[in-house]
Amino acid sequence: MKITVVGAGNVGATCAEAMVRMELATEVVLLDIKEGFAEGKAMDMNQTATLHGFNTKVKGVTSNYAATAGSEVIVITSGLPRKPGMTREELIGTNAGIVRTVVSNSLQHSPDAIIVVISNPMDTMTYLAVKESGLAKNRIIGMGGILDSSRFKYYLSEAMDVPASDLQGSVIGGHGDTTMIPLTRLATYQSTPVSNYLDEEGMSKVAAATMVGGATLTGLIGTSAWYAPGAAGAALVASIVRDQKKIFPCCVYLDGEYGQSDICLGVPVVIGKNGWEKIVDYKLNDAEQAAFNKSADAVRAMNSVLGTL
Ligand code: 2OP
Repeated sequence: MKITVVGAGNVGATCAEAMVRMELATEVVLLDIKEGFAEGKAMDMNQTATLHGFNTKVKGVTSNYAATAGSEVIVITSGLPRKPGMTREELIGTNAGIVRTVVSNSLQHSPDAIIVVISNPMDTMTYLAVKESGLAKNRIIGMGGILDSSRFKYYLSEAMDVPASDLQGSVIGGHGDTTMIPLTRLATYQSTPVSNYLDEEGMSKVAAATMVGGATLTGLIGTSAWYAPGAAGAALVASIVRDQKKIFPCCVYLDGEYGQSDICLGVPVVIGKNGWEKIVDYKLNDAEQAAFNKSADAVRAMNSVLGTL
């Protein structure tokens, strides 16, 4: 079984490495347009096989889509990353063209693949992939909410001084600094509401830090983050190829669910071998639904830019 990662930059290579270490496939193909870049990263990863004890092979290729043929999952990470001070939305002009080409080339060789979109602005790139590919909507999944939820649990764990692994919490809506919605009301610490431990001010601080979590890292590192985005991508692919049926917040095409249509936005979904298999209804309260609608308006405005490119 084969999985392809398009884009051997920080996020793509880290995602590939996480998948290799989890042995999610017999082969992970890493593709990049920069001559020799993916080959080098693949060789470096393969040289860790005896150290980490995995049997998955990584194959690096330069723009050779034939090598990706028959992939079960294609993870798209290609495109420009953010620079400090930049929003994800500012990347649309360049990245739309790249994602369009990648989707078309990938499907030519792997017509049955499930597509995972990580490239930014992710909600709009996922919408673009749905519209351009003509694939069944369940086969296209945008990865943002898993990452944002992981950051949410990190900030909660810091504020509460408890292990992040004892926390549950979801971020839905868009994958943008102002469009994501950390669901503080529904977050739990070992089955008890986090509101038992954090007052409203503490909770608002956690939510605010979560929303700019990616921008904070970009400011510190000088480019987009990669460890958590890569690991989040791998967790999503694991639930697909192992048919785990995990519930993850992912960006999917909505057809009336959560009160929205003709848009890709983050909602809780069951992830299995068929891609996203079911949307789970978290029964938002009025304030949460209003925030979701506002997020949808912003993403819809971004999607409308696609028609002008
Ligand atoms: C992030 O939030 C790369 O969009 C990704 O770090």
